[in-house]
Amino acid sequence: MTAQFKYKPHLIREDFVDFVLESIHPMWAWKRVKAMVKEVKALSPEMTQLTLKPNHNFDASTVKAGQCVLLTLVINGVRHQRSYSIIEADANRIVLGIKAQGLVSRAVKDLPVGSYVEISQAQGNFTLHEGRDAALFVASGSGITAIYSLVKQAIVQELKAIDVIYFTRDDVFHVELEQLAKRFPQLNYHHVNTTETGQHLTQAFLEEKVPEFASRETYACGSVGMMRAIDLIYHNNQAIQRLHTEFFQPQVDEDATAQPVFFQRSQQNFEADSTLLVSAENAGLRPAHGCRMGICNTCTCTKVSGTTKNILTGELDHGNNTQIKLCVSQAVTPVVINL
Ligand code: FES
Repeated sequence: MTAQFKYKPHLIREDFVDFVLESIHPMWAWKRVKAMVKEVKALSPEMTQLTLKPNHNFDASTVKAGQCVLLTLVINGVRHQRSYSIIEADANRIVLGIKAQGLVSRAVKDLPVGSYVEISQAQGNFTLHEGRDAALFVASGSGITAIYSLVKQAIVQELKAIDVIYFTRDDVFHVELEQLAKRFPQLNYHHVNTTETGQHLTQAFLEEKVPEFASRETYACGSVGMMRAIDLIYHNNQAIQRLHTEFFQPQVDEDATAQPVFFQRSQQNFEADSTLLVSAENAGLRPAHGCRMGICNTCTCTKVSGTTKNILTGELDHGNNTQIKLCVSQAVTPVVINL
């Protein structure tokens, strides 16, 4: 009897196929998005613009303004992933804004043109509302990269009114925003040089610039201080449901007491005095993660018991068997995790 060959696609391993394809050409992959570095440009001493040419796996049709991609770099043999805002993207070109603040973003500055990186598809929920209702955009520092692409989308969507408040020291995209304000009369641009004026976000400042701010869909991205201020202002004005935020620097409560954490399946105990992700890493563990800022869901896992605090929203989670993200959760009591 002759042996019959049956095609069984589920038996073909993606990593093996990618290994073969990559050995033919570094941009080739079955499903993964590989990209070639086309340009690395300093926008300011703290900000870099990275331009990439993605392979055919990148789905530009799903990209929305305000989203980001996870960029993977191998540094000293270890894979690192970080999330960066998309400034512009189409099928042939992705432009990312990178703030120099850690190992990966510093390595990005040194990427040679013509080298290859891996990225994810676009992701994130920091996107513009549908329709033409007026919007307010508030940015500080590197938060301007996500806000700038939302402002351009707001112009495309012909929102009835667009106000942009930008607190900055180094004026990245300042000239571009000035030019947009000249071309589109519905766009009011409020530029604040914080070095010259010392001005920061307060309710009085907001009322002066945009008196009806509490009735606007509002998008904010920037420093921890600014994000805390706007969160408080919108809470105090019963407008928190209109505030959409994107955080770049999740901050742990440094005064909180360290708590014992137990990873149930791997039978690992450690003390957590930072986020659960950082504390696990400090204990030598390697939980799966991506963006490290609560966007990509890679680190989502089940909290079996105990109380954690979401450091982005301040919300406490007392429930048993609830889903938490390790990268933005801090233990408030002893915690058991199903990992
Ligand atoms: S690592 Fe992306 S959500 Fe936690």
